[in-house]
Amino acid sequence: MALWGGRFSGKTQKDVALYSESISFDKRLYACDIAGSKAHVKMLAKQGIIPQSSADAIRAELDVILKRIENGDFEYDIALEDIHMHIESALIGVLGAEGARVHSGRSRNDQVALDIRLYLRGVIDRLIADIRVMQKALVNKAAEEPRTIMPGFTHLQHAQVVLFAHHLLAYTEMFDRDAERLADCRKRINVMPLGSGAIAGSTLPLDREFVCKELEFSRVTRNSMDAVADRDFAIELVSALSIIAMHFSRLSEDMILWCSQEFDFVELSDEFCTGSSLMPQKKNPDVCELTRGKTARVYGALTALLTMCKGLPLTYNRDLQEDKVAIFDAIDTVTMMLSVYPPMIDGMMVKRENMAKAASDPALMATDLAEKLVEMGVPFRDAHHRVGAFVKLCNERKKQLNEVSLAEMKEAIPEATEEFLAMFDPVMSVEKRALVGGTGFAPVAGQIKFWQKQLS
Ligand code: ARG
Repeated sequence: MALWGGRFSGKTQKDVALYSESISFDKRLYACDIAGSKAHVKMLAKQGIIPQSSADAIRAELDVILKRIENGDFEYDIALEDIHMHIESALIGVLGAEGARVHSGRSRNDQVALDIRLYLRGVIDRLIADIRVMQKALVNKAAEEPRTIMPGFTHLQHAQVVLFAHHLLAYTEMFDRDAERLADCRKRINVMPLGSGAIAGSTLPLDREFVCKELEFSRVTRNSMDAVADRDFAIELVSALSIIAMHFSRLSEDMILWCSQEFDFVELSDEFCTGSSLMPQKKNPDVCELTRGKTARVYGALTALLTMCKGLPLTYNRDLQEDKVAIFDAIDTVTMMLSVYPPMIDGMMVKRENMAKAASDPALMATDLAEKLVEMGVPFRDAHHRVGAFVKLCNERKKQLNEVSLAEMKEAIPEATEEFLAMFDPVMSVEKRALVGGTGFAPVAGQIKFWQKQLS
């Protein structure tokens, strides 16, 4: 009979067990469930709610169960629904009546809330460490390419020249905010719900603060109804994960473009590409494409959680069991991204000459001409207009911007001097953007140093 079977006479229909089980996915909570139960019984004994001897026996047996699960020596049965009932029933199987004391003053509703919080707290610590590894890979690659110039794009059109390192460091910044978001979300996860019971707390003299300390939470939850119904913290985490996935997807899109024959800026190492079963010449950036696809899956998890919660009357409803499917899938997907990308970035071969060639397009320096005019006292709108007219004139004469004479340039830009003709130099263009946050060699070198120190 199920652990909750007292008031039932009929048996559960056979497909219902299959339909309602969560052990197939919540078994990964085992260590958190056991840690929670150990703290709970320690408190129960301290409060005189159960005998000390029972608490000792339960705690010892929980350690045995932990070992058994870790050694793969534990049997799962969908009739026992979830990880909480598996562990409780294993306890009772060995300890009998003594084991049956473990659930005093506790419901699976506050138990599962505790387990997820414990689990996600650990996940966040690991994810933040993984993000640092990813940032290091980007910074190392930037440090290898301190003077590599490429065209920067807006609207995927040539905009201005930038350093390739600057582009990589842009992603380093994004991943840094991702780590901050996770750390912030952890604060709201790190709150102890046990003692909320099914919905209303308990008539037993539980010491919640004791359990809180024992499990190293920052405080106890203030409202038992909120504590069993709340999944905000999971929604927040999966939304932070969605943003991380989005950053990976964007980086992937850049890399896909860079690998294309049209750009030809980088080559990924063979380990991260696949061939075509038909076209012998192909080397496809599948990993990057999969990241775009998997990002959709992470967004799916976020949408699932938001939708799951939006119509739920307080408090716990069984719908919430499905939260774990979405949460775990999003965590696993982003964890994989974080493990696959650092070595892929390490092994990415940068084709400096191709980037330099693309960056030699003189149109990339048009803004520099306009800013030169501003320095000479021309109001920016007029300067912009004059350089625009100059571009038009070059287009009409089918010439590149650096293929005209000074006399021709003066037709559109009367203030132009010899100095203007020398401005179509990408190195000079980069050099001059020396302000904080700019793509100049000096600020980018400074940023590389900053991140190397930050991440060491
Ligand atoms: N397996 C359940 C879940 O994940 C545990 C809580 C069940 N509570 C209940 N009253 N049926 O949400």
